[in-house]
Amino acid sequence: MNILVTGGAGYIGSHTCVSLMEAGHNITIVDNFINSKKEVLDRIKEISGKDFKFYKADVTNEVSVEKIFAENSFDGLIHFAGLKAVGESVEKPLEYYYNNVVSTLILAKACLKYKVNKFVFSSSATVYGENQVPFTETMELLPTTNPYGETKAISERILTDTAKANPDFSVSLLRYFNPIGAHESGLIGEDPNGIPNNLMPFVSKVATGQLEKLSVFGNDYDTPDGTGVRDYIHVVDLAEGHVAAIENLDTGVNVFNLGTGKGTSVLELVNAFIKINDIDVPYEIKGRRPGDIASCYADASKAEQELGWKTKKTIEDMVRDSWNFERKNY
Ligand code: NAD
Ligand code: UD1
Repeated sequence: MNILVTGGAGYIGSHTCVSLMEAGHNITIVDNFINSKKEVLDRIKEISGKDFKFYKADVTNEVSVEKIFAENSFDGLIHFAGLKAVGESVEKPLEYYYNNVVSTLILAKACLKYKVNKFVFSSSATVYGENQVPFTETMELLPTTNPYGETKAISERILTDTAKANPDFSVSLLRYFNPIGAHESGLIGEDPNGIPNNLMPFVSKVATGQLEKLSVFGNDYDTPDGTGVRDYIHVVDLAEGHVAAIENLDTGVNVFNLGTGKGTSVLELVNAFIKINDIDVPYEIKGRRPGDIASCYADASKAEQELGWKTKKTIEDMVRDSWNFERKNY
């Protein structure tokens, strides 16, 4: 297939581009590098040994998007491009709604016009809000506590309504759990600007000595060791989930959790990192982070049954590959 990948220079997008080309697909990337670096494109080529077309453009710019669709003939699209920092979305709601919602509208419109009938969308487990774990795709979505989450829920609705009104147009809404890890080459991985908010990049930067110590946000949750539980998924497994999703996308609206189905606590993840990498990560227990929930993990059975996809990598693989990327690139 000829696949347009928006945000293909980013963390999940770059790994997915490698997996798509390994599976024999041709890709075109569009990215404006608002949260990534152009060197990533060379690294994708180095890992895959393949070349691809690239457009530096903003996917909220309808003229640019029109041009990309007019110059190519795509079979499908995977839309990663978006802003993703939850805290920042509270401070800058308009930027988040504009970037994440307008991009979805413009791309969906272009798909209808140019008869690109497969649309895969990066959603998030955050749309489940405070439902009971494990989260299943049939649950009613609960309001999220931040604009970022709302942009995902709104984009899901826009794409669902568009697919209902246009029987040739099909969508796959992929709700990711917590992606961590990196390509085993150490060439691509998660490279956040500034001080990370998310656990794994923070731990990696404490391990290099760039940050002094980790704050563990709360040890009084109703979880086995009192710290927050999440469903961490290796980014390469997640990338392969996208290949399965687009290859199996034929009709209608398809919603899939992409997770492992297993919960891991903050302390379990930190201790696995220390043990596997044989490196110290000083930490201290602090109060709960506002907005956090105790546990978040997937019922991952639907993707396995319908897409024939399930995760292969372990927590040990995730902490090893995260550290391998960090120490080669900091
Ligand atoms: P990322 O920031 O690393 O990648 C996003 C890419 O999109 C970046 O390269 C950025 O430069 C680009 N981009 C952003 N806005 C753009 C625009 N208007 N035009 C062109 N390019 C633009 O993020 P990621 O972790 O790879 O996440 C990819 C997608 O998955 C996002 O939509 C994110 O919300 C979603 N998601 C991520 C996570 C996670 O934990 N990483 C979890 C759930 C969902
Ligand atoms: C965050 C986002 C969520 C997004 C998800 C995946 C927030 C509030 N939520 O969720 O919308 O879908 O990433 O990208 O940012 N922790 C610490 N110390 C730290 C950092 C985190 O103890 O320095 C703990 C948290 O309290 C949580 C766990 O580690 O229990 C994971 O945190 P994080 O990596 O930020 O992901 P989520 O909270 O799941």
